Order: sequence, then structure tokens, then C-alpha cells
Amino acid sequence: MLILGIETSCDETGVALYDSERGLLADALYSQIALHAEYGGVVPELASRDHVRKILPLIQEVMDKAQIQRQAIEGIAYTAGPGLMGALLVGVAVGRSLAWAWEIPAVGVHHMEGHLLAPMLENNPPDFPFVALLVSGGHTQLVQVEGVGRYRLLGDSLDDAVGEAFDKAAKMMGLGYPGGPRIAALAQQGNPERFTFPRPMVDRPGLDFSFSGLKTFTLNTLQQQGQDEQTKADVALAFEQAVVDTLAIKCRRALIQTGLDRLVIAGGVSANTRLREKLQAMTAERGAQIFYPRLEFCTDNGAMIAFAGCQRLLAGQQEAPGFGAIPRWELEDLPAV
Ligand code: KG4
Ligand code: ZN
Repeated sequence: MLILGIETSCDETGVALYDSERGLLADALYSQIALHAEYGGVVPELASRDHVRKILPLIQEVMDKAQIQRQAIEGIAYTAGPGLMGALLVGVAVGRSLAWAWEIPAVGVHHMEGHLLAPMLENNPPDFPFVALLVSGGHTQLVQVEGVGRYRLLGDSLDDAVGEAFDKAAKMMGLGYPGGPRIAALAQQGNPERFTFPRPMVDRPGLDFSFSGLKTFTLNTLQQQGQDEQTKADVALAFEQAVVDTLAIKCRRALIQTGLDRLVIAGGVSANTRLREKLQAMTAERGAQIFYPRLEFCTDNGAMIAFAGCQRLLAGQQEAPGFGAIPRWELEDLPAV
């Protein structure tokens, strides 16, 4: 089944063509980072307007790249939520309208389900069941995954999501947006002997996360130590190490608690090299396997939405004409396939 996937939940316009037999045929991404950078974060109204400008040209681009005529497309998958309402509505409106005009089924996809299934686009996809660590700008979650749509939330962030904590720490150091990759780059010059930051909530049982204390600790350190280049690099490294260690401790705990031996990491922060290395070492030590998407499919993209939507359309799920978006949406509310 050949599916057109559309992602517009935040600041990237992503489009892809995925075929259940032939795999990913083409994908295209337009990032709005430069547009939002001068504001230090995503401006929702500007995001919506830019999606409007880019979405149709990107759809044309993937069809040209894959040499696919519109008659070959058998279904449409678009991100229905969670995300920014105005931004979501662009993808929802375009997806539904094309489905109506082309007389094919369409399905609204949960953005985090897209992230969660993204490693299945790779050559060596994980089998079910597995534990997934979802780390993005809006979510930090540990999920027990039994199948598509069969999700049990094991742990969640009580305050700031981990990507958000990276972005806020970067802002404190004047590094700009998005913060994650910039902190990671600066941390390479950091001296690991200088600071050790606390690992939040690791001494308490459970799998929930809290990163707001670490954010305050970072701010206090910067205020006390000054903001010369070396201090910023040392703080970036201490911050990154604290986040990575905390995530690794919780992932290990989740594998033990569930008795599972497969770990999937996905979402923007799963692009972080230190996190990948740490989790690789942790899973290897346990004799467990780790799976993650290629770098460009860690952050938002159309391929993961095409893939997730394809699973649901193949199972016969689709939505009645008419459309809505769901800016707040829990993974556990999804129907099983
Ligand atoms: O999944 P994503 O593209 O969008 C959301 O669904 O939120 O994730 C974006 C987040 C941002 O907070 C960004 O700073 C973070 O992912 N991020 C990183 C890295 N690359 C992106 N964080 C740490 N290290 C990275 N290399
Ligand atoms: Zn995302």
C-alpha cells in the first residue's frame, strides 16, 4: 500500500512516500529553524504560515523524486496531534482535502507514535515487544510497546521534557535555538573534571522524570561561575552528562521491571551521540539490543508519519471525512491494531 505522509505539528514541514512492500520511496523536509531562531523559540503563528507556503511544493517534490503519479497513491497519513494547533491544522486540512479529491482513505497519526515506530524504517527493525524511550521537545516517556497501538506508559516527565531542558539551558548560555545540538557541540570542549551536576530522581523508585531542578542548578552554576567560553563548555558537558546518565538509569530500570531485552530510542534527543553511546553500553552489558532511527528521522519528519499511518490503513482503520486536530493527546488512548 502506497502512503503519502504529512507532518506539520511544530517547526518542520515533512512529507514522504512509503510503500508497505517497497519501503520508503522518497522524503523531503523543510526546517523552519532559521525563521524562529531570532525569537529564541518557535512562534506558533509564523510556523503555521510557513507550513502553508511549503506543504504543496514538498508534496510535489516527493512525487517527482519517487516518480509517482497521484493515481498510484492509495492512502494519506497526516499528523493529527499532539502539537501546535495552527500548525497541525495545515497538515490536517491538506491531507483530508487530497484524500477527498483523490477518493482514497486518510488517517490522522499520533506524532509520538510516529517517533516510536521510526526505527522500523531501518534495515534491522525491532520485533515487538520492546521498551521505548521517547525523548523530544515536548515529551520524555518510557513506554512498554506490545504492538502498534498497544502502549503502556511506564514513566513520564513531571515537568520539563528533556528536549525542552536542553533548549532552556542553551538559552541561558546564549547558544540559540534549538539548544540540544548546540549544547552537545559545546560539551565536546568541556572539562569533565570541573563540575558534576545532580542526576534528578534516580535515588527514588519509579520511572518518572523531572528535569526542572537540573535547569535551576545549571542557571545557579552559570551565575556563580560566570559565562566565559570555557565555563559554558564545562557546564554544557556537566548538563549533558547528568541528563544522559539519568535517562540511562531509568531505561535500565524499565528493562529490568518489564523483563524485556529490546530498547528503542526515538524523538529529537535520540540524535544525541552521548546518549546513544551510553545506552549502547548499558544494553550491551545486559545482553539487550538497542534500536534507533537514522539521524534525520530522530527529529520530526514525514517518513515516520507515512510509516505509522500505513500500519493503521493496512489494518483498515481510517477516518470519516471532516477533520480536526488533537493538540493534547495521550498515547495510551490509541486503539490497538
Ligand atoms: O522530536 P523533535 O524534532 O520535535 C518534537 O517532537 O519536539 O525534537 C526536538 C528536540 C529539541 O528540544 C532539540 O533541542 C532536541 O530535540 N535535540 C537534541 C539533539 N538534536 C535535537 N537534544 C540533544 N542532543 C541533540 N543532538
Ligand atoms: Zn517530534
